[in-house]
Amino acid sequence: MESMKRIPHHVAIIMDGNGRWAKSHGKERYEGHIEGVQSVRECIKAASRYGVRYLTLYAFSTENWGRPQEEVDALMELFCKSVMAETPELVAQGVQVRFIGRRDRFSEKVCEHLTRIESDTAAGQTLTLVLAFDYSSRDEITAAVRALAQRVAKGELQPEEIDEPMIARSLYTADIPDPDFIIRTSGECRLSNFLLWQASYAEMYFPTTMWPDFRQDEFFEAMEVFAQRDRRYGKL
Ligand code: IPE
Ligand code: IPE
Ligand code: MG
Repeated sequence: MESMKRIPHHVAIIMDGNGRWAKSHGKERYEGHIEGVQSVRECIKAASRYGVRYLTLYAFSTENWGRPQEEVDALMELFCKSVMAETPELVAQGVQVRFIGRRDRFSEKVCEHLTRIESDTAAGQTLTLVLAFDYSSRDEITAAVRALAQRVAKGELQPEEIDEPMIARSLYTADIPDPDFIIRTSGECRLSNFLLWQASYAEMYFPTTMWPDFRQDEFFEAMEVFAQRDRRYGKL
């Protein structure tokens, strides 16, 4: 029973270091993103095997639109290709895919792929894979505040009724539990606008491994790190 408690229910990963991995292998940045897809596959399998129920992957931030157009296009193309190629395997593994983030800035093609993989995998019960795509935490919180303010303006809601659970329910992650463990690869020790509200009591881990090298073994190693953590939630 004690060991059961040590399995993080929700793991969230900031997949960073694709560009540096590519550079150190004499390749184009794009090739780092392609290699990173294999890490995604392996971490999904590893998470399921370990008993993790929610896996959130930060795939594209609202700030990533500011990268050169060529790289943005390559990432969108890779996303569409991966959706097509991976859906049958995800269905077979019982993975349900969900997206968090804005949906108003993608091309029609990207939107179609996004909706399709969500509906094709809707019955998955083993693992919920949450993809943060055109996501940022401040953008999410701003949208939530605006929606609540609109309800107040219409007289549907009293300001005193706004509490923490209501704010949580107004975020993209409304019915998704908070992450227990946040991993950021590549050695950068920052959140880069990822799950700022939800991360309140998450344990953090910053391995120096670049994302394309973060495979099953590295995932299981991270689970060992989590198992050693002592979570106190402000108590003794
Ligand atoms: C993460 O790798 C992938 C995305 C942000 C889409 P990077 O592309 O940020 O790689 P580095 O940080 O430049 O090495
Ligand atoms: C964070 O990585 C976003 C994703 C992994 C999708 P970045 O590489 O964009 O973040 P910064 O610029 O290093 O903070
Ligand atoms: Mg980066």
